[in-house]
Amino acid sequence: KSVGIIGVPFEKGQKKYGVSVAPAAVRSAGLINHLKTIEGLDVKDYGDIDTTTTEAEVKVDNMSHLSQVSACNKKLSERVSQVLKDGRVAVTIGGDHSIGVGTVDGHYKVNEDMILIWVDAHADINTNKTSDSGSVHGMPVALLVKELADYWPYLPTMDWQVPKFSIKNLGYIGLRSVDEYERLAIEKYKVPAFAMEDIEEHGIRKSIQHILKVLDPEMKKPIHVSFDIDSLDALEAPSTGTPVRGGLSLREAINLMEIIHATGRLRAIDLVEINPALGDDCDRKRTIEAGLCVLKAALGFSRRGTAPRGVLDL
Ligand code: ARG
Ligand code: MN
Ligand code: MN
Ligand code: MN
Repeated sequence: KSVGIIGVPFEKGQKKYGVSVAPAAVRSAGLINHLKTIEGLDVKDYGDIDTTTTEAEVKVDNMSHLSQVSACNKKLSERVSQVLKDGRVAVTIGGDHSIGVGTVDGHYKVNEDMILIWVDAHADINTNKTSDSGSVHGMPVALLVKELADYWPYLPTMDWQVPKFSIKNLGYIGLRSVDEYERLAIEKYKVPAFAMEDIEEHGIRKSIQHILKVLDPEMKKPIHVSFDIDSLDALEAPSTGTPVRGGLSLREAINLMEIIHATGRLRAIDLVEINPALGDDCDRKRTIEAGLCVLKAALGFSRRGTAPRGVLDL
């Protein structure tokens, strides 16, 4: 088993300062060493995406910084494809959630049969016509899915990204802040979406098992998890731009990732929306630690522990 790490110091998909510092903060919290403690995991760092842009601003109604979002995602998409072609699981550290456009696009170009699990308090499926914020981090899913392509105006600079991924291969976990037209899209396309009340009813295990079964009854497709740290309860992950209380406990999120790891089909995971500039030292540390726990669980860390290799065979 091997993974490739990609950092994306990008924050133009939303309005607060600080999410772009997350890759550096997560790295200095020991990301690489933490992952290397996982038995049998080969870790390669592909470095950060260069997010300095010279692109001229393009004006699209109610859509901020489109040209920068586009330029960053174009590079990210190519990097994710490369990591996957190198035979590694792509682990992308954002950045705000607008970078989900690049990670999913890059994954789709390598594995057209991929399924996408969006773990988030929010559905991120607004278009520029339905968004209250104009921030692209609330729009990545709508940019990615082909079924919503006709709801967008022409988007200058985005020609590299042709939405081919089908909304039929999408599932949600952790929702508790869904806008009106987002709810409409979820219902219209019957997206398996487990909001917090559904997780209360069924538990995290049954919830993810149901989604995986609906999206892929034969249980053989590659899985992409896009994990927004704000899916966690705001007490577990306070340092994030759009916190919503009443979210997943860290235990639920770890268990969710263990279940996904156990499928053996996780090919890409994004960890986004950690904002080390929000809150105090203790908030920042707590949030980054939670993110590391989630990643480790997704990549095979066992809470049962691992005995030293070979000793019992002697
Ligand atoms: N639904 C809101 C919006 O469209 C919030 C989105 C928050 N997204 C996120 N990736 N944290 O702006
Ligand atoms: Mn969110
Ligand atoms: Mn999100
Ligand atoms: Mn505190």
